[in-house]
Amino acid sequence: MGFFRFCLMSLVLIPFLCWIESVNGIGANWGTQSSHPLPPGTVVKMLKDNGIQKVKLFDADYGALKALGKSGIQVMVGIPNDMLATMASSMKAAEKWVSKNVSDHINNNVDIRYVAVGNEPFLATYNGTFLRTTFPALQNIQAALIKAGLGSKVKVTVPQNADVYESSSGVPSGGDFRADIHDFMIQITKFLNDNGSPFTVNIYPFISLYIESSFPVEYAFFDGNATPVNDGGTTYTNMFDANYDTLVWALQKNGFTNMGIIIGEIGWPSDGDRNANNKYAQRFMQGFMTHISGNRGTPMRTGPIDAYMFSLIDEDDKSIQPGNFERHWGVFYYDGQPKYSLNLGTTNSGALIPATGVKYLQKKWCVMKDSAKLDDPSIAQSVSYACALGDCTSLGYGTSCGDLDAKGNISYAFNSYYQKNDQADEACKFPNVSTVTKEDPSTGTCRFVVMIEPYFGGADRLMGRFVGGVVLFLVWVLLV
Ligand SMILES: *[C@@H]1O[C@H](CO)[C@@H](O)[C@H](O)[C@H]1NC(C)=O
Ligand SMILES: *[C@@H]1O[C@H](CO)[C@@H](O)[C@H](O)[C@H]1NC(C)=O
Ligand SMILES: *[C@@H]1O[C@H](CO)[C@@H](O)[C@H](O)[C@H]1NC(C)=O
Ligand SMILES: *[C@@H]1O[C@H](CO)[C@@H](O)[C@H](O)[C@H]1NC(C)=O
Repeated sequence: MGFFRFCLMSLVLIPFLCWIESVNGIGANWGTQSSHPLPPGTVVKMLKDNGIQKVKLFDADYGALKALGKSGIQVMVGIPNDMLATMASSMKAAEKWVSKNVSDHINNNVDIRYVAVGNEPFLATYNGTFLRTTFPALQNIQAALIKAGLGSKVKVTVPQNADVYESSSGVPSGGDFRADIHDFMIQITKFLNDNGSPFTVNIYPFISLYIESSFPVEYAFFDGNATPVNDGGTTYTNMFDANYDTLVWALQKNGFTNMGIIIGEIGWPSDGDRNANNKYAQRFMQGFMTHISGNRGTPMRTGPIDAYMFSLIDEDDKSIQPGNFERHWGVFYYDGQPKYSLNLGTTNSGALIPATGVKYLQKKWCVMKDSAKLDDPSIAQSVSYACALGDCTSLGYGTSCGDLDAKGNISYAFNSYYQKNDQADEACKFPNVSTVTKEDPSTGTCRFVVMIEPYFGGADRLMGRFVGGVVLFLVWVLLV
């Protein structure tokens, strides 16, 4: 029996069970591709302070899972795409993964509810690389969960990009799975449905606006200002509803009428593009929260919407191949400070609560020397080096530091590299042109950051060092 149907029935019989199954409110994606991640314990406290009761991880990050023990927060833990082939080809590998990355943590009181097998594996840009491994990996993980006695507590799912479905008529009722992957989608969706698992999809109005400049901006937001799209009498004034309902139609058309849907990612970046700023991000996120409050659902499916915001915290080590905005999806900056006001409906004050106890490096910055000349031939090389290893995604047209002059640009690049390298003296020695200052160079919307103290992993990594130390000691003993 599908979870959704189970819920509908239990509404009549035992409403309490359903209440336990699915917590109210929005979840959060917790990504860890950062040069200076906040300590996991700090993040878990921040989640709790903000009343966020569901979290989604992209891999079985040991430190994150350890910190989530006894937190009461429900967890979706992911298997990265590059592990799909292994999981698909070996039942043993799948069992080991479940044992180490699910069972062990559940025994440590981590409330794992879902395993996400892959992440957008059918994305068109992957050229079909994961097309044949996703389904067998899903089957093996499901079998391993059952074998581990977790078949009913932990559900499998496959977070998909919304490009796995499309509409032939341009309106939701024309929705169906993409023609070139139709059979693969049916195979996976049927398996999920048979196992009472939900369909997970990531929906991004920002990306639509980014790739198609003629996309109607108002249609990305929830204020009802867009020219309505009429679908046989049903009107849509925002892309989220239309996209969600295109999936509902695609599912219905293929016989999956009551399947549960999870929004695996929803959000708006705050920098790195002319449409990525705090104002738009605030407008989108608050609009979404207000839109889903009251459990009105969408025209095709009323009821609560189960969603995870993307993302909790900025990640400065993410690939910028998709675009410079990629490092700015957080509702919080790298240091756990809120970017804008956002009422999630889960705190007494209605405001976001910043991370507490965050330790910063000293208040100093690396900038271009006053005496340096803009035409110094070494500068171009220094800047491209600093930007390649630092993060210059806040520079350029329409970004938070887009108004800097040439000298400001150069300083920004130098400082980024310097902070990422923990303010090491050698990291501010661009030949003859850089210097360290104690005066904050930030102006207007442009923040010259001071990095947070590096965090040296959890017990496992410390243990690794300890073992390494013992080995070195033994080698030394043998030598003398
Ligand atoms: C558990 O997950 C981590 C992180 O994805 C991975 O590196 C590790 O190989 C997994 N363990 C097993 C036994 O598969
Ligand atoms: C997909 O194909 C394109 C064009 O052939 C290529 O440039 C790109 O690197 C490929 N991507 C992957 C992930 O294989
Ligand atoms: C600053 O850097 C950005 C990105 O590298 C560039 O687009 C812009 O033209 C620069 N501005 C000045 C005044 O040099
Ligand atoms: C730095 O400045 C000194 C003296 O002005 C000059 O001799 C030297 O070549 C410069 N070094 C570089 C790498 O530009």
